[in-house]
Parts: sequence; structure tokens; C-alpha cells
Amino acid sequence: MSLLTINKLTSSVGAEVVGVDPQRLVDDDELAAAVLDALEDNGVLVFPDLQLKPRDQVAFCTRLGSVDFSSDGHHEVAGIYPITLNTAKNSAASYLRATFDWHIDGCTPMGDECPQKATVLSAVQVAERGGETEFASSYAAYDVLTDDEKQRFGSLRVVHSLEASQLRVTPDPTPEELARWRARPTHTHPLVWTHRTGRKSLVLGASTDYIVGMDLDEGRALLAELLRRATVPDKVYRHKWSVGDTVIWDNRGVLHRAAPYDPGSPREMLRTTVLGDEPIR
Ligand SMILES: [Fe+2]
Repeated sequence: MSLLTINKLTSSVGAEVVGVDPQRLVDDDELAAAVLDALEDNGVLVFPDLQLKPRDQVAFCTRLGSVDFSSDGHHEVAGIYPITLNTAKNSAASYLRATFDWHIDGCTPMGDECPQKATVLSAVQVAERGGETEFASSYAAYDVLTDDEKQRFGSLRVVHSLEASQLRVTPDPTPEELARWRARPTHTHPLVWTHRTGRKSLVLGASTDYIVGMDLDEGRALLAELLRRATVPDKVYRHKWSVGDTVIWDNRGVLHRAAPYDPGSPREMLRTTVLGDEPIR
């Protein structure tokens, strides 16, 4: 019998896990393994009203893999990064506006780091309106392709850049902004990611700039069309947050975005990132 009680939330992505004792997430090896299995199967796991404490969130994440401690100093607990548009709480808030577009985290790293394995978010304060987080399976995005498309897209390579993702939210950047974005190296990834498991997914989202060797507009139109198909409403799980909810997603197999909300809103999420160990190939 499974250690987890799971209810699927859509046909392709997301499942709710009910009746979990937060302390067992911290203490129980078998439960952590069951969470990883369920994550592989469902892409997103929602723990309603879990009331996970920040320290316990980090402790739980260390059971799932290596926790990212690189952006410490934003919260009293190491491994916790606050997500908010309120610049008094987070000086990098303007960058976070790019999270309103569909994306996969970590497609444009500074070096050759792999995309993050998983991300855990817990809601401390929620927006009165908006601020939902939406998820779509990038495995399902591949699975719905025709055989002919699978064949044609299998060899395509896509250039990803921070500039591409930032231009979508700041179309008229200052020279300084542009210079800062361009200091981040671009990365070329295959459109189709063949995972260690053998499963295949599409690498899409805001960081995609153009397709190598294809007419610029034609390539961008194809990327936009694939993203549209991957994120049609009936393929999306939209999480409406309540204080105390925790959501974990498999960043390698889902696209995500935040729904816009008032920048003056107190919405605050606490994020912990589990580092990836699987390159896009
Ligand atoms: Fe993100």
C-alpha cells in the first residue's frame, strides 16, 4: 500500500496529497522516497494546509536532494528564499515579474548547472486577487505531438537567454538593464529533452529565444505554438493559494507561471530549491 493518499487534480498534471503529518516529511525516509515517486508520476504535489515550518521545509528538501543555499541572506532560515513583489521584502522583486510567463527554472544558469530538480513553495501570505500558480506538464507537451512532429522536432536546438525572458516583461530596457541581462551567458538546449528515465519532454517557456538554423520568426512562431498547445486550459492545474499550503513541483517535467497580482499585495511565498543533477540532453 502506498504511504501517500493521492487525488489527481487534472488528467495530465498535479495531485493533492492529504493527511500528511509535516513532521514525518522531516523524519521519515520512506515517506520522502514516496514523495519523489509521486512527483515523478504527477509533476506537481499539493499539500493543502500543511503548515510546514521554514526549518522543516529545508529539512524535508534535504531528503529529496541537495538544497540550494546560494541565495542565502534573504531569510533568517538558510535555504529559504522569500518570493514577493514587495521590494521592502525582496530587492530582486523586479526580476520576479518574469515569473508571470510560462517557464522552466534554470534554463539560463551562470555556468553549466543543471535545471533545478524540484521546487517547494509554502504560502505565508496570499494575494486577495490573483497570485495563483499554474502548472502544465512538459512531458504531456511532448506526448501530444504527432509522430511526424516527434520526428521533425527531435533534432531541433533552441537558444535560451535571460534577455529573452526579461524582454517579455520589460520590452524597453535601459542600456544598464540590457547589459546586466547580457552578462548572463546564453545556453543552447535540445527542444526535446530525453530524461534518464527514458521519458521525453519539451523544453519551452520564456527563456526560449530562437531555434538554431531556422528563420527567426518561423522558429519563434513554432516555439509559441508549442507552448500554446502545452498550456491550453484543460492541460493546466491552477493552484489557488491558502495560507499554510505547500506545493512541490518537478521542475524538469513541468512548466510553471504565477498569475499577476497587485505589487502592493502582501503575498509572500517561501521557496526552497532542490538542485538538479540531470543536464538537458
Ligand atoms: Fe520559476
